[in-house]
Amino acid sequence: MERYLVTAALPYANGPLHLGHIAGAYLPADIFVRFLRLTKHDAVFICGTDEHGVPITLAAEKRAIAPKVFVDEVHAHMEATFAALGISFDNFSGTARPAHYETTIEFFLDLDKKGFLEKKSIVQLYCGSCNRFLPDRYVEGVCPRCSAAGARGDQCEACGSDLDQTELVNPYCKICGAIPVMRETSHWFLKLSDFEGRLREWLESKRVAWKENVVNFCNGLLAKGLPDRAITRDLDWGVPVPLPGAEGKVIYVWFDAPIGYISSTKEWALKKGDAEAWKKYWQDPDTRVVHFIGKDNIVFHSLMWPAVLMGKGGYNLPWHIPANEFLNIEGKKISTSRGFAIWAHEFIESFPADALRYYLAIIAPEAKDADFTFKEFQASYNNELADILGNFINRTITFIEKYYNAVVPPLAGNDAETAAMLARIDETGRTMEQAYAHFQVRRAAGLFMDLCRDANKYFNDKAPWKSRKEDSAACGSALHCCLRIIRALAVYGSPLIPFTCAKVQAMFSDAAPLDWKTADAPLIVGAPVKSPGILFPKIEDAAIAAEAERFQKHDTNVPHT
Ligand code: 2FM
Ligand code: ZN
Repeated sequence: MERYLVTAALPYANGPLHLGHIAGAYLPADIFVRFLRLTKHDAVFICGTDEHGVPITLAAEKRAIAPKVFVDEVHAHMEATFAALGISFDNFSGTARPAHYETTIEFFLDLDKKGFLEKKSIVQLYCGSCNRFLPDRYVEGVCPRCSAAGARGDQCEACGSDLDQTELVNPYCKICGAIPVMRETSHWFLKLSDFEGRLREWLESKRVAWKENVVNFCNGLLAKGLPDRAITRDLDWGVPVPLPGAEGKVIYVWFDAPIGYISSTKEWALKKGDAEAWKKYWQDPDTRVVHFIGKDNIVFHSLMWPAVLMGKGGYNLPWHIPANEFLNIEGKKISTSRGFAIWAHEFIESFPADALRYYLAIIAPEAKDADFTFKEFQASYNNELADILGNFINRTITFIEKYYNAVVPPLAGNDAETAAMLARIDETGRTMEQAYAHFQVRRAAGLFMDLCRDANKYFNDKAPWKSRKEDSAACGSALHCCLRIIRALAVYGSPLIPFTCAKVQAMFSDAAPLDWKTADAPLIVGAPVKSPGILFPKIEDAAIAAEAERFQKHDTNVPHT
């Protein structure tokens, strides 16, 4: 049985999580890991907050608190949001912890020793009024190619040209508005060109299994040749560059962040009292390392990070990088800076986590951007979870409690419809297994609801309200089959809607731990069953309207946590 180390992109600790984050990385990763656990794979699910980078220092400055205090606050808030959503990390660390610094420094020094780093002098824009070198996204000016105003230090959105910040005409500091000057500084560069051949070969081996968008995008960059990347910055918040003459310099956030996957795994191992356990996941080539990310993180995970791992040696390269597209809201792109986002912690104050999980699963942005709408969210819950799944469970248990002493009635013979229904359970198990194993969340959710629909049809065809009086044994037999479906649904659906499925599982007195293999095992006749209560109380129009209004009212500031 394969061993897995699954990660979800470390979220920046600079603001709350929004639904785009959840749909893009955390929910698909959680669904996959829950499936692996059900199928008894050895799987560890790793995450943590990405706690470095300029936006974090600016956010902390704004609140006049130290960056560490700021990120700890955001970390706690995110951890609570993830837990409420049922995102079941085995460890949720943070990149400002001493153990992470140690691992990052070990990687940096090792790459330097092996000759993969090079120190170079460069000229950068420096803001004398802020007393800092300006990162690309904090400097704007006129584009030297198309003369559009508002071009950023790395790119002009008007003409699409890649830029060097020193090329900008009339640059100004985005933080304070002052005019920056050119100043010389020195940085360490990762010699990506040293890895081009190996990266090309490695990506080629992924061509069939990975999404086309990931492989093609990276091959496009490889074809142009990979320029060396500066992996240090002039800042005082981050992992200090561990070399003489590097005072005031830290390691670039995008170099240390993915190393956070390793340091979080080490933290997990320490917590469980087996400090060496992380090695099995990172250094034993039998482990499959899977990184769930949004499409904006592709370059770093499929070129830079593998290059770092190749340079270090002895570590597993990513086995798969399921990269998702974006989630839009009511047809428009999410923008945290403009406050155009639905904050996950607010949303689940109003609605059950499973309602959100189910909707985000059926619209998962797998092949193209998806669109969240409040109306569709309400409809998916009321018309599918409540009216199809909830209704089926409720009808079945009501009859059994009322007419069959709240115990599992016997299966009397095997009429054709019941035999077909039992075969449907088995078939759904096989198709859903394929879908989950291939990161096809939308498909898994669709197959799940198809089984719920067929179950309702079976119930209607068997008409227990009639057959109960005409042939009580046949009626009991049909209800037995319905219970079999319900128990299988509790397993097959649990990666998608875990909170509900735990309640459904608890209907059965012999509640064995959830296990994919025994999902449609025979039931013990005569064993007590009990109602789970109302699983999906309807979401009223007023609740949707109130949430949509709260969303509209978000001002242009990202609310601090
Ligand atoms: O885009 C982001 O939110 C980054 N903080 C993701 C980092 S992923 C990994 F490298 F840690
Ligand atoms: Zn400034």
